[in-house]
Amino acid sequence: MQSPIQTYLEGLHSRLAKIQGGAVASYIPELTKANPDWLGICLVTMDGVAYSVGDSEQLFTIQSISKPFIYATALADRGRDFVARRVGVEPSGDAFNSISLNPQTGAPLNPMINAGAIASTSLVEGDTPEAQWRRIESSMAAFMGREISVDESVYRSESETGFRNRAIAWMLKNFGITDGEPMASLENYFRQCSILVNCRDLAYMAATLANGGVHPLTGKRALPAEHVERVLSVMATCGMYDYAGSWLYEVGIPAKSGVGGGIIAALPGRFGIGVFSPCLDEKGNSLRGIEACKQLSKDFSLHAFTRAGDPKMALGRVYSGADAPSRRQPGAELRAYLKEHAHRIKYLCLHGLLQVDGMEYVIRKMREMAPESHSFILDMNLVTGISESAARLLNQARLGFMEDGLAVVFSRIHDRQAIIEPLSKTAGGKDRGFLSFEDNDLAVEWCENRLFCTTTPPPDSVTSLADFPLFRGISAPLLEKVEAVTRIQGYRAGEKILECGQAGDGRIFFIESGQVSILVPLPSGGHQRISSMGPGMNFGEMVLLGQATRSATVIADSDVRCHILKVDDFNRLSEQAPQLKITLLENLTKDMADKLRRATQWISALA
Ligand code: DON
Repeated sequence: MQSPIQTYLEGLHSRLAKIQGGAVASYIPELTKANPDWLGICLVTMDGVAYSVGDSEQLFTIQSISKPFIYATALADRGRDFVARRVGVEPSGDAFNSISLNPQTGAPLNPMINAGAIASTSLVEGDTPEAQWRRIESSMAAFMGREISVDESVYRSESETGFRNRAIAWMLKNFGITDGEPMASLENYFRQCSILVNCRDLAYMAATLANGGVHPLTGKRALPAEHVERVLSVMATCGMYDYAGSWLYEVGIPAKSGVGGGIIAALPGRFGIGVFSPCLDEKGNSLRGIEACKQLSKDFSLHAFTRAGDPKMALGRVYSGADAPSRRQPGAELRAYLKEHAHRIKYLCLHGLLQVDGMEYVIRKMREMAPESHSFILDMNLVTGISESAARLLNQARLGFMEDGLAVVFSRIHDRQAIIEPLSKTAGGKDRGFLSFEDNDLAVEWCENRLFCTTTPPPDSVTSLADFPLFRGISAPLLEKVEAVTRIQGYRAGEKILECGQAGDGRIFFIESGQVSILVPLPSGGHQRISSMGPGMNFGEMVLLGQATRSATVIADSDVRCHILKVDDFNRLSEQAPQLKITLLENLTKDMADKLRRATQWISALA
């Protein structure tokens, strides 16, 4: 089945192809060679999927669409304040080539008109024009996701006829807006306008801005995050020149047009759009390009001022540690305690890109739950990112809850910079940082320990086999015989005690002291922890039922001491006292039934 988006674009293309009117640009002679019938449309998603129709591979020169990217490069190289002193952000309401300078300072009103663009180019880093050009090349390549090339004939054509721009360049020099030799950086401006692109390139460049400055396919950051909204702002207010007001009204997406016939539109967090049709209207914007964006915006509800998603969507499922306890095998005391108190551990599954409105809702729900809670686990598995302002709010709330004795920990944010970066960046001075766990099991175990330790410290060792549930109901004399055939073995923290798949060697392990983790290998090569155990717990008992190979890997989390019982010794004792085996197998069955019940509980809690 063809994607409905593709079908829609094909329909739109055939409708727009019928629109006549406008004219190709002629003030740069080389541009008159464009075929007026060319029409291409491309839409790119935030994860880099492109839908394109028509002449989307046709190369043409980028012209003024280069301006927001060069303004971005100047911001990255010189910083906001330096650039702001030399280039304004006010819409001029004039044509793209109008000499719109601030009467007091001589600064061009915004970076989208030629004057502001020529000033922006001059601010790009580089001690020489050649070095400045190399900086422009690498920056544009990062936005495009590929190496750039220049249409030398268009470049020459503009350089030979760019008298108005030369006048503007000298004006800017006269007002001290630009440093150095103005004609040298002006040549770089002409070259940047002559960079060859196609409609797909434009859509990926727009998608890079919409994706917070990161190219959706290469994953390369083309622009520091803090400058993205500034570039999109001037595109929204100035990108379409003296049509900017109507554009924002009709289409509502930050955009930029060029006399080569291209238009880009970048909708933050949603799409990058590239349209190409060389016939321009009287304001120098692609006539069919504008129509394409109007239709897309209307039909896909892309207007930036359309009601954003419901803040409540930030919070998905809420359940408790009673619904999904840790997978460890707690001792009787801990199990009984958790049965009564684990409901005070709350899981909150957060969703999507967390903004302040969604975070406000989440924190409000946490405050409502606080009286009956002890810890909050924020499961971030379905979170795609978090804004700095939302992260700051969450950090403040986390510290506030901590003062009230409630812990707020994160789960499943491992290696996810879109979450870790804003959270780390917005942690205040006194903040000793946030706690995060690779998965919910580790997070809830930590919360269980915290809950339990606030009341009764767990026993850190057991002294006799009688303390082990597997030996419940076995007489003391019989137990002494068993103890006589067991031997004590110590393991260092981190030591592997058993390996998944290794041949069963008939040993059953009874933990006297220390903690172990039970892990199963994952197809990815990693391991998933399925349980953890402490004093009074046993592992490896499946050999009693004739297990040939070990079904999990066991690692010592701390220094561990184990009583090791060999099945052969046990069987020999059981021949003399069959009750031993009967009782032990009964206990084993009960234990397995309990494990099954808890696994079912987990699955239903996560369903
Ligand atoms: O400087 C010029 O005039 C051209 N290189 C770029 C102008 C342009 O693309 C205006 N856009 N609509």
